[in-house]
Amino acid sequence: MQPPVRTAGLALTLALAVALPGCRSDAAPGGDGTEGTAGGSSVGESATTTTSSSSGLGADASSSADWDEGSTTEPLIPIDCTESCIDVASNAGIALCYSCRCKAAFDNWLPGPDEVQCSEATPIISYHADLSGPEIVLAPSLPDATDCANPSLLTGSCRQGSKLGQLQHGDVMLRWICRDPYLDLNGEVLYEDMGLVGQNVRTGVTCFWDDIDDVTHDDDMPPLDLMEASDQERARHQEVFYFTDGDSCKECHDHDPFIYTPYLQSTDWITVAAAKSPYSLVNLNGTGRATGNFHLVSPQANACLACHRIGSQNTCESFVRDSLGLNKDAPYEQQVRDAAQPGSPHWKLAYWMPTVAAPVADFATWVGLFGVARDHILACCAAPGRDIGDCLWEPVPAEG
Ligand code: HEC
Ligand code: HEC
Repeated sequence: MQPPVRTAGLALTLALAVALPGCRSDAAPGGDGTEGTAGGSSVGESATTTTSSSSGLGADASSSADWDEGSTTEPLIPIDCTESCIDVASNAGIALCYSCRCKAAFDNWLPGPDEVQCSEATPIISYHADLSGPEIVLAPSLPDATDCANPSLLTGSCRQGSKLGQLQHGDVMLRWICRDPYLDLNGEVLYEDMGLVGQNVRTGVTCFWDDIDDVTHDDDMPPLDLMEASDQERARHQEVFYFTDGDSCKECHDHDPFIYTPYLQSTDWITVAAAKSPYSLVNLNGTGRATGNFHLVSPQANACLACHRIGSQNTCESFVRDSLGLNKDAPYEQQVRDAAQPGSPHWKLAYWMPTVAAPVADFATWVGLFGVARDHILACCAAPGRDIGDCLWEPVPAEG
């Protein structure tokens, strides 16, 4: 039940390898006792495919070449948004201004309309776990399943057909999610919810977009770049997106803009979390602002903090507990609750940190590596953001 998570950039890989015992640079994903099904949709198998073609947490630097392109060149002069931001009183004017600010923040790049569509994204597969043997065997759950081994930690959905897209351009990571499709009155696939998050991981500046729900099909996502868009495309943008500047997103997307959960394990998730980039939101006047969130910095948590921050909002409240085998209520299937019981040979179904990229042989070893950090984090997350006892927190940095 562990994800095939890839790390972008060799530097990060090496930093991790040095920082954490068990984060070996030759660590081979896949050897975690999670076995595939005949259909080839297993976690173990996709992890293996991932590493052979690209980097994993391993030593292969093949993805760092394209990743570094943007950062080695001279800093670009951001496009001038004076014109685009003339009218921030109307919805259309706000959308145009936000588009320009985000493009400037993304080193003068926003994706073309064809690159970012639900049809261009990878299936998110919901799994049922078979624990009848010594190893965890995952098979896609039934299309209408209401419980599963990896429900969405936002919606609780176990339905099939959702999708995750990822696009890297220079220093920018853009992800979009298309959730819970159904057939509309014309028999076309319509998604209940669609949203995007993009971050310039060099500068930390982040933009969010969210649709008004039940308006996005496989191929009709409007362009994000409104400076280049036709009147018709701008109108479509208005129909699909309401304006958000991320204030409602940072509650969950708290310590960095991206959230990995096992719901996304079928995707080829490329992590940028280890860079611990700054994280800021965009104001329409072109300035940035901090999220106001905190992250845990006490050394007792270092075994976990070696790879990413722990945030004071929903990471504390919900995601951390979930990753540590806690709160496995419905829509988790019974198998996950069984796996969370002390002594279960299938503990990896309930404990999903660290990822398969840094495999841990057995639960005793896991407790040896992470027991102290676990207890400390759970204690500090009882009063997130407050320096009580030996818990130390700092604001999530908005600038590098
Ligand atoms: C109540 C918590 C919550 C809030 C608020 C929230 N999200 Fe998320 N989001 C999640 C979770 C959890 C995931 C990971 C996938 C899953 O388990 O469903 C996620 C994943 C995503 C993804 C896929 C990329 C990634 O980081 O995994 C996008 C895009 C996204 N959210 C956009 C948004 C936008 C835009 C907003 C604000 C309008 C928002 N989210 C607000 C919980 C939240
Ligand atoms: C070897 C590296 C590694 C270690 C050690 C590690 N994690 Fe993670 N963790 C990851 C990666 C990679 C992700 C995906 C983050 C991303 O790309 O946004 C992640 C994501 C998470 C998430 C989901 C929220 C998010 O930010 O995406 C939680 C919660 C989490 N880790 C908790 C922990 C806890 C608790 C520990 C210590 C018991 C721990 N992690 C140790 C690599 C690690």
